[in-house]
Amino acid sequence: MVGGGPLLGEVRVVGAKNSALKLMAAALLAVGESVLVNVPDIVDVSIMAELLRRLGCAVEHDPAAGRVVIDVPERLGHRADYELVRAMRASISVLGPLTVRCGLADVAVPGGDAIGSRGLDLHAAGLRSLGATVHVDHGYLVAEAPNGLVGAPIELAFPSVGATENVLMAAVLAHGTTIVDNAAREPEIVDLALMLQAMGAGIEGAGSSTIVVTGVAALRPVEHRVVGDRIAAGTFAFAAALTGGDVMVRGVDPRHLGIVVDSLRSAGATVTPEPAALRVVGPRRPRAIDVATLPYPGFPTDLQPFALVLDAVATGAAMVTENMFEARFHTAAELARLGADVRVDGHHALVRGVERLSAAPVVGSDIRAAAALVLAGLVADGVTTVEGVDHVRRGYVDFAADLRALGADVVTEPAEDLPAVVLGAGRNGARG
Ligand code: UD1
Repeated sequence: MVGGGPLLGEVRVVGAKNSALKLMAAALLAVGESVLVNVPDIVDVSIMAELLRRLGCAVEHDPAAGRVVIDVPERLGHRADYELVRAMRASISVLGPLTVRCGLADVAVPGGDAIGSRGLDLHAAGLRSLGATVHVDHGYLVAEAPNGLVGAPIELAFPSVGATENVLMAAVLAHGTTIVDNAAREPEIVDLALMLQAMGAGIEGAGSSTIVVTGVAALRPVEHRVVGDRIAAGTFAFAAALTGGDVMVRGVDPRHLGIVVDSLRSAGATVTPEPAALRVVGPRRPRAIDVATLPYPGFPTDLQPFALVLDAVATGAAMVTENMFEARFHTAAELARLGADVRVDGHHALVRGVERLSAAPVVGSDIRAAAALVLAGLVADGVTTVEGVDHVRRGYVDFAADLRALGADVVTEPAEDLPAVVLGAGRNGARG
């Protein structure tokens, strides 16, 4: 076993961040009180709650109970300020609902982020197809449709998750039928469609590349349970595999991790799917796995940094290819600081496994990069300090506590000039 001891035990994931935020936006489509349960207690949910409040909703957020109650008024505000959009890019998912509810939406353009420049052109093109005029004005994307939207055929140039969601949320209240081709197929899209259907929307084909939406005049509020977080579950599955552990990950539909399970098996792990859980038993030392990120059902880009960590301590060499986002190899450079043999060339990272990593201070630049570096710290000799735990908190309810419960030696510490750091101790550290 390389570095720290194996992770052992059970961990439970709650609802997916990437679904909960969109479902909160979808609540805007119906006047009255919608309720979401199984909502993760993460900062981004609080940011979305604040955004909805500023649009005129009353939002009760009970983080411990995982429950958000959104009371939507007849008349909504239509502006999403830069201050909030900058803090959380997923704020742009209010664009579709506001355009169709208010006939006008002005949502700040998020700007660049740490995982490449992420355009909004497909969101804009989708709304234009439905009859909105869309332009950028002083840093805001302004969509106008004073006479409502009209259903239309839309072929997305790329199966963008965010654009598919915005188009769906606009089309459900448009006049007539919208056919979205080359739609994203992620489980979070299916979750959104399930909530919209329960609200009375006419949607067929979510989960496939072609989604047909039949517009209705009004929707009703609902109660909906957020789908389990496949990315958080995948994170713990990688943690088990790369530490030679034995972890039961509960709260996820294992079918949502199909290709990830295949990859972990290629790495030598024994993976046993159960109805709402996944047991992963890691090998003594993993075999290197080639990974190429693609839209669902391909390998998720959000788990790519964990594949890099696994390959870094595996036997053999492998190529990790990033096809979704430019500049998403920040983890590779930080892993090199831990002694990994990683070479990045454009979209590819060539990793030659080393027997052990050696602890060092590293910096996590986004949610998954920071979490991946924490896992790297678990297989590094000595104490690894990961700066950027504020990123981790945006995607994981209490990552350090979950890892501790599995036997890892991880603490979260406030630091003077940094929001916080995570300490991950390798096998030389005391194990809790
Ligand atoms: C969502 C997820 C993110 C995940 C990603 C891909 C949320 C909050 N985030 O992000 O965690 O990594 O899906 O699975 O759900 N693009 C354009 N123009 C557009 C829209 C997208 O060029 O109008 C490009 C982006 O720059 C990127 C690619 O398409 O290169 C994928 O983006 P998209 O699928 O839209 O991801 P997000 O919805 O932003």
